[in-house]
Amino acid sequence: MEKYHLALKTAFASEYAFYLKAQFFHWNVEGPNFPQYHELFGKIYEEVGDIIDDFAENIRKAGTYTPGSFSRFSMLSAIEDETEMLPAEKMLEELLQDSEKMANMFKVVFQMSEDMGDHGLSDFFAARQDAHKKHNWMLRATLK
Ligand SMILES: [Fe+2]
Repeated sequence: MEKYHLALKTAFASEYAFYLKAQFFHWNVEGPNFPQYHELFGKIYEEVGDIIDDFAENIRKAGTYTPGSFSRFSMLSAIEDETEMLPAEKMLEELLQDSEKMANMFKVVFQMSEDMGDHGLSDFFAARQDAHKKHNWMLRATLK
């Protein structure tokens, strides 16, 4: 049970870190394609932002506490912080890598929830995997 709860918290902290990074890129991206990049990063962070509260409450439903501080998030997150102002293409590449990591993490926690018989949560994780696959597609298509 403890391993399961830790995996849920790790996925939550990672998703939050991903959300913040997409927003950071939305704010700071520059270049001739600024409007498109600004909008793409905006679309991604808004999609993730909209599910954060549900995610947090799902962790409570699973019987443990939800982390909610920058120090806990940085301890738990598998998504590395970005502090540099990267060129647009590097931002797209980095967010694509992170989003692929998130899709894979949701595949893993999906299976853990299934094994726990927690079908409400596995359903949520299936939707998260699918949402990240869509972000992956859009980021990859933009990089071509
Ligand atoms: Fe904005």
